[in-house]
Amino acid sequence: MSIKEEIKNYNVPQHIAIIMDGNGRWAKDKGLLRALGHENGVDALRKIATASAEAGIKFLTVYAFSSENWKRPRTEVNALMSLLVSSLKKELKTLMDNDIRLNAIGNTSNLPARCFRELKEVMRKTAANKHMVLTLALSYGSKEEIVKATTEIAQKVKEGTVDLEDINEEFFEKHLYTSDMPHPDLLIRTSGEYRISNYLLWQIAYSELYFVDKLWPDFNEEDLYEAISDYQKRERRFGKISEQLNP
Ligand code: IPE
Ligand code: IPE
Ligand code: MG
Repeated sequence: MSIKEEIKNYNVPQHIAIIMDGNGRWAKDKGLLRALGHENGVDALRKIATASAEAGIKFLTVYAFSSENWKRPRTEVNALMSLLVSSLKKELKTLMDNDIRLNAIGNTSNLPARCFRELKEVMRKTAANKHMVLTLALSYGSKEEIVKATTEIAQKVKEGTVDLEDINEEFFEKHLYTSDMPHPDLLIRTSGEYRISNYLLWQIAYSELYFVDKLWPDFNEEDLYEAISDYQKRERRFGKISEQLNP
């Protein structure tokens, strides 16, 4: 049986989050402009999103642009924003063909108006798709998200619509961008960096972490299957002991 068939058999992660890192180094290694690395990164995302939907993943959440990425040189930020618009237009067909709903998390109102408009448009057009939810983290920062949630809750307490006793983990989570999805089961980061870079800090509290050296534009379906297969061999104990899980 191929690894593709094998992984479908049991314990398929419901939610995979990916830090798609290494586009710049991929381009540099080839003597190309960084923007070309990002373009090839979109090709990798198309392959991985399609393969994920086919493998039975229900939620795929990818880090496309962090709140800290605004600090990059203006030319790179502009290139990324243009690529976002052109990719949204171009990939609508891929999303429809694969029954994938597009979603976004982050401070998306910070995006240039044309990006925000196109994003909303594709989200609207794919809203009825059922097979998988592809979430783009755009202008996303986890610390910002947590502060935003805290401010919203504080406001409600101040207005008297919420009591302090009502605040617990479940309530807090309802104020995060990810309130309508389960926590990631598996977090993948490419490019050989072993850090989280302000991604989904709350949500990955019990996610399985998987780091791979390949640069994002080189990450392919087989690499995804490898990551899922590795995940399937792990024991998620959530603080308990092994015997409690398999009595
Ligand atoms: C990830 O690739 C894409 C974005 C952050 C937008 P990078 O652009 O960070 O690539 P490296 O890490 O410089 O190689
Ligand atoms: C994280 O990658 C953000 C995205 C992949 C969009 P970075 O390349 O921005 O992360 P650092 O700066 O190396 O931690
Ligand atoms: Mg990087």
